Parts: sequence; C-alpha cells; structure tokens
Amino acid sequence: MKFVLATQNPKKKEEMVAILGDLGVDIVTEEELGIHVEVEETGKTFGENAALKAKAVMEATGLPAIGDDSGLCVDALKGAPGVYSARYGGPDMDDYGRCKLILDGLKGETDRRAHFETYIVCAFPNGDWFAAKGECQGSIAFAAMGNNGFGYDPIFFRTEEQKTFAQMTAAEKAAISHRGNALRSFKTKLEKYLAEHPEG
Ligand code: IMP
Repeated sequence: MKFVLATQNPKKKEEMVAILGDLGVDIVTEEELGIHVEVEETGKTFGENAALKAKAVMEATGLPAIGDDSGLCVDALKGAPGVYSARYGGPDMDDYGRCKLILDGLKGETDRRAHFETYIVCAFPNGDWFAAKGECQGSIAFAAMGNNGFGYDPIFFRTEEQKTFAQMTAAEKAAISHRGNALRSFKTKLEKYLAEHPEG
C-alpha cells in the first residue's frame, strides 16, 4: 500500500522508513508527488493538528496519508509552548532564542518538569483512520547543553541518561524519544490495519 507523508521535511521520511520499512509499505512525500498542501495548524491539540494534516493531504491526493505533530510542554508554563512549539516567541525567533525564552521563563522556578509529545494520524480515503501517540518525560535544564539535534533538544534533560537530547546520538534519542515511541506504536497499529485489510 502506498502512503503519502504530510510533510515538507525529508528527514521525517527517513525516520519513518527506518522504522516502517520492513512492513513493505511504500512511503512518498508531498514533494515526491509534486504537491504542497498548505495546512493551517489551527488545532488546540497535537492530535487535532496531526489529523488536519493527514486529512488535507489524503483529500488532495486520494491516497492514504500520514500526518504528525509534536511539541514541548512545560509544567510550570502551564503546558506552553505546546502546539505553538515551532512558533513560540514569534516568526523571527530561532531555536536558540526559543530555548532562551523557556530558560528565562523558568528563572527561579524549581519545578522543571516537562515532556515532549507526538501524535501520528493515518487517514484513508474510505474514511478509516487511526492515531498513535508517543511521549517522553524529562525536565528543563538550567542551561543549554549539547550540540546535536534541533529545536528544544539542548534544554531537555533526561535524568535516566543524565544528558540533554542534544548530548545524545540520533540513535540514543530515537530509542526513548516521543517521536520514536509514537512511530513504534504507529507501526504496531499499521501492521494490524494491513493484516485486517489484505486487499489494500
Ligand atoms: P513538528 O510537529 O515535529 O514539526 O514539531 C514542532 C516543533 O516542536 C519543532 O519545530 C520543535 O520546536 C519542537 N520539537 C518537536 N520535536 C522535537 C524534538 O525532538 N526536539 C526538539 N524540539 C522538538
């Protein structure tokens, strides 16, 4: 079965193929199909945004489509930046500025708890759909540490590994990350769906 990945980011396809590859599914990106579906992320939850993306790309292509949405939720900031993770601090802010904004927002705060969350939604032209969720619990460090990864990785600290995400290799991070966990859960659900729909 062929699936379109609702993203402009080629790295997301690499990640997905690495985990789903052995299911024998064909995953193509919007770019590979020569389309760019503009989706306004108006959802109040990661699940709503992932569903908006999957549904819009499924409708534009007539193919089963996979959408995902992730972000960081900081307890002492009442769950912010949440669904605004990519645009926290406004359009001119970069990853460094966004990390600094979180560190400044937590100055003097002892409750550093935070988690990353990912939702992946698969929408089929016949109206079927399913969703998978992944989380990763951690805390906000007192200063940025490490150079790997992207986004909020330098300030997201894991007590278990005694490292921030940015101090881990890509493989170390994928083994415990929200996205890795969501992809592994998604794989189980997709495998079940394919077994129940052998006609494709
Ligand atoms: P997306 O929905 O996967 O594109 O993620 C939205 C935003 O959440 C990104 O632009 C990052 O700011 C943040 N984010 C999501 N996943 C991660 C991660 O694994 N590390 C750091 N930041 C992340």
